[in-house]
Amino acid sequence: MALSAPTRETLAIHGGTPVRQTLLPYGRQSIDEDDIQAVVQTLRSDWLTTGPKVPEFEDAFAARVGARYAVSFSSGTAALHGAAFAAGIGSGDEAITTPLTFAATANCILYQNGIPVFADVTPDTLNLDPERVSAAVSPRTKALLPVDYAGHAADLEAMMNIAERHGLVVIEDACHALGAEYKSKAVGSIAHMTVFSFHPVKHLTTGEGGMVTTENPVYADVLRMFRNHGISSGARDRQQAGHWHYEMTLLGYNYRLTDIACALGLSQLKKLEQNLKRRREIAARYTETFRQIEGIRVPSVNAEVQPAWHLYPIRLDFARLSVGRAEIFRALRAENIGVNVHYIPVHLHPYYRERFGYRGGEFPIAESAYESLISLPMFHGMSDADVEDVIRAVDLVIGYYRK
Ligand SMILES: Cc1ncc(COP(=O)(O)O)c(C=O)c1O
Repeated sequence: MALSAPTRETLAIHGGTPVRQTLLPYGRQSIDEDDIQAVVQTLRSDWLTTGPKVPEFEDAFAARVGARYAVSFSSGTAALHGAAFAAGIGSGDEAITTPLTFAATANCILYQNGIPVFADVTPDTLNLDPERVSAAVSPRTKALLPVDYAGHAADLEAMMNIAERHGLVVIEDACHALGAEYKSKAVGSIAHMTVFSFHPVKHLTTGEGGMVTTENPVYADVLRMFRNHGISSGARDRQQAGHWHYEMTLLGYNYRLTDIACALGLSQLKKLEQNLKRRREIAARYTETFRQIEGIRVPSVNAEVQPAWHLYPIRLDFARLSVGRAEIFRALRAENIGVNVHYIPVHLHPYYRERFGYRGGEFPIAESAYESLISLPMFHGMSDADVEDVIRAVDLVIGYYRK
């Protein structure tokens, strides 16, 4: 599509006709008949919670990301908590993470009574800056929690090198990055532990759900116990072995993912490659178009990374625009484009401000990126017409407000 010349066509926010009649969300699941049948079959089976579908899903998932072990959890947040526990984060231990993430990444450190230490991001990919991470390491540091922002893998080699130098554990928050690659290796096979989410806006969904992958058998054992009250065997194992005895050896939780959810996950996993392909097509179309529009900046991609495109966050160039982010956001929403913002930096949430005394200004790159970010709709179920609606609305709104 050729871009229109800067236009003064009436925006929907000023009473014009919206680019589309119904709201296009920024993300949503795709569920087909096979998914429904998979769930129905499990509903008719003997096992609704931890049954045969759990190890089946875990094994298939581990194979897909090239990991030795995959341990499922009831959410990405629960999986992060499990990983923080397995990494040995305890009272007063520090773990370094990015402020530009969903609160759960830092909250899992607090669940373990640890202290989240933030380090700023790099201005291009908005992922953790290895130099700032190095500078933040202290004798209390136990772990690093890089996030693969928007689906673009963090600088994992640098993180692993810092971890090796200081004896730290790397927990990669890959909740955005199922299917991403870093230096031709699948995300999930690189960090000490990698955490995924199966929330409906992600690359595959189980409703709620999460996974930790690892090469380390000790972590895998601890993770399995942690999600099951700290008990060493499951009810199904005991039933099959014909004994009743079990022992609780650590303080765990009920963070199990059900057989119903795992049946859905297995069915969804079969479509991961086509979903990734579609997300990459949409990203390519957006990027080729938006890089020609003055006033916005497209996401950076490093040569060694193949992103998974959970999000497509553009940044506004205020030097070329006559209004702020809030106006552009509202104007796009009025066109029925369900834009969003990822993320309010974690340290600026009231809880973190009050508990740790953050006032703003501590992480200027993340904070200024936040001021300019807008996530455009990005999900594998988008039609070509949906994609063109987004392009038309962005072109219209940015053209209207360009200086
Ligand atoms: C970066 C990141 N970490 C963790 C989570 C938590 O995952 P869940 O919603 O599955 O608990 C999310 C969820 O969106 C996320 O985006």
